[in-house]
Amino acid sequence: MSTKSTLLRPPGPSTWLPLGLNQVVGMASDPAGFLRKMAEYGDIVYYKAGLNDVYLLNHPDYIRDVLVSEQKNFIKGESVTLLRELLGEGVFTSDGPAHLQPRRMLQPSFHRERLAGYARTMVKYSEEKQRDWRDGQVIDLTEEMKQLTLAIVTRTLFDIDVATDKPELADALNALHDWARRFLLPIQVVRLIEKLPLASNRRFKEARVYLDTSMDELVAQRRAEGLERGDLLSLLLEIYPVEGSQTGQGDRQIRTELLTFFLAGHETTALALMWAWCLLGQHPAVEAKLHCELEEVLGQDAPGLESYSRLKYTEQVFREALRLYPPAYVIPRYALNDCRIGGYTIPKNALVLVSPYLVQRDARYFEEPERFKPERWTPEFKSALPRMAYFPFGGGPRLCIGEPFAWMEGVLALATLAQRWKMRLLPGQSLALNPKLTLRPKQAIHVCLERRGENTRAFQSGEATRVQV
Ligand code: HEM
Repeated sequence: MSTKSTLLRPPGPSTWLPLGLNQVVGMASDPAGFLRKMAEYGDIVYYKAGLNDVYLLNHPDYIRDVLVSEQKNFIKGESVTLLRELLGEGVFTSDGPAHLQPRRMLQPSFHRERLAGYARTMVKYSEEKQRDWRDGQVIDLTEEMKQLTLAIVTRTLFDIDVATDKPELADALNALHDWARRFLLPIQVVRLIEKLPLASNRRFKEARVYLDTSMDELVAQRRAEGLERGDLLSLLLEIYPVEGSQTGQGDRQIRTELLTFFLAGHETTALALMWAWCLLGQHPAVEAKLHCELEEVLGQDAPGLESYSRLKYTEQVFREALRLYPPAYVIPRYALNDCRIGGYTIPKNALVLVSPYLVQRDARYFEEPERFKPERWTPEFKSALPRMAYFPFGGGPRLCIGEPFAWMEGVLALATLAQRWKMRLLPGQSLALNPKLTLRPKQAIHVCLERRGENTRAFQSGEATRVQV
C-alpha cells in the first residue's frame, strides 16, 4: 500500500493559468530567477509547465539518484529533440544503449597523451589572442573569449585555423546559438516559430547548410589525405572507416560528432572564462594572489602541460567561477518509469530538472555562497563536500566527456592572459544574466585592458559594477 507521501505531490507554486503558462513564461523569460524562486519551495519542487509535470530536485542525494544511481530510469528524451534534428544521433543526443557505443569510442580523444598536444594549442592561441591587444583598449569580453575558444576547438578537432581557413564558421555558429534561444520553449511553440518568415529562421537554415557542407568537405579531404594529425577528426576517421561500412555508420556519423563537439565545447568554455574575468575584475585581492602564483610557478615562461598541475590557485579561480556561473546551469531528464526520490513518487514521463546553478549557491554546502572565494577549494573542503553538491560538468555516464579538456583550457588560457593583462570592468554596466541553453550575460560586457607591470594607464576600476544574480 502507498504511504501518504507517495500520494502527495511535492510543494510548488500554484498553477493559476491553464497548462502552467505562468511557469512556462517564467522559465522562458528569466530562467535563473525563476529557478531560484522555485528552489524556495524545498529540495523537491513540483510545478506544471505546458504539458510537462516538472520536478526540480535541489538536494545532492536526489541529483545523484537521477544522474548516477538511477540513471537508467532517466533519459534526455524530448529535451534534445531539437538538437537531434540538428546534429543527428550522436554522443550528446542518444539515450540508453545507443549512447554507450559512441561514448566508448570517443573517450580516447581525451586521454592524457592527446591532451598534451591540446595544451600546446591552448597556450599558442591564447598568446596569439593577446598579441593584438593594446593597453587601454576596450574589448567585448564575451566575443573575445568566444573567438579564443573557437580557435582552440577548431584546431584541436579538425586541425584548421578558423581565422584564416574558415572565418565563416564563427557566423554560422552564432546563427545556431541564436536559434538555440528557443530551447526553453515548449516544442509546440518552437514548431510554430519555425514556420514564421523570420530572419533568424533563414539564418539558421543557411548556417545549417554551410556547416553540413563544410564538415563533409573536410571529412572528404582528410580521407583522401590519409594522415594521422593527432586531432579528433583523425580518431573519428579511424573509428568510422568509410560510408556504408558494415557498422552502417560513416561520414554522416563523423559529421554528427564533429558538430556535437564543436557546439558543446566552444561556448561553454568561453562563458566560463568570461565570468572568471568578470569576477577577477571585481576582486583585486584574488587577482593579486593569482599574479603571485603565476610569477612563482612560471616566471617569464609560458604555461604548458608541465606547469599545468602546479597552477593550483589558477585552478581554484576557475573552479570557483564555475561554481557561481556554471555554463550548463540546468540539466533536464525525463523519467522512463515511476520512481521514488526523497519520499515522493516521480511519475513516468515527468520532466526532472537538476541545476548546478542552484545547488552550487546553496548555503548548506558553501559558506557565504554568493561570495567569490577561490580559497574555499582546499583538499579538505573538496573531500568533505557531498557528492553532486558541485557538478558543473554533470555526472554519471553522461558526465561531460570534454571535462579534462575544459579544465586544461580554462587554467592555461587564464594563466597565459593574466601573465600580461588585467581586465577592468567598465563602470555602470549591468552584469545581469540571460540564460538560454547556457548561462549567458544579458548584454555585452566591456572591459578595459591594462597591461601588467607597466603603469601606463591609470584606469579606475568599476567599483559601481556589481554582478546581478
Ligand atoms: C566549461 C566548459 C564545459 C561545461 C561547463 C560543460 C558541461 C557539460 C555538461 C553539464 C554535460 C552533461 C549534460 C547532460 O548530462 O545532459 C556535458 C556533456 C558533454 N560535453 Fe561538456 N562542458 C564543457 C566543455 C566541453 C568541451 C570542451 C567539450 C568538447 C571538446 C564538451 C563536450 C561534451 C559532450 C560531447 C557531452 C555529451 C557527453 C555524453 O552525453 O556522453 N564539453 N557538458
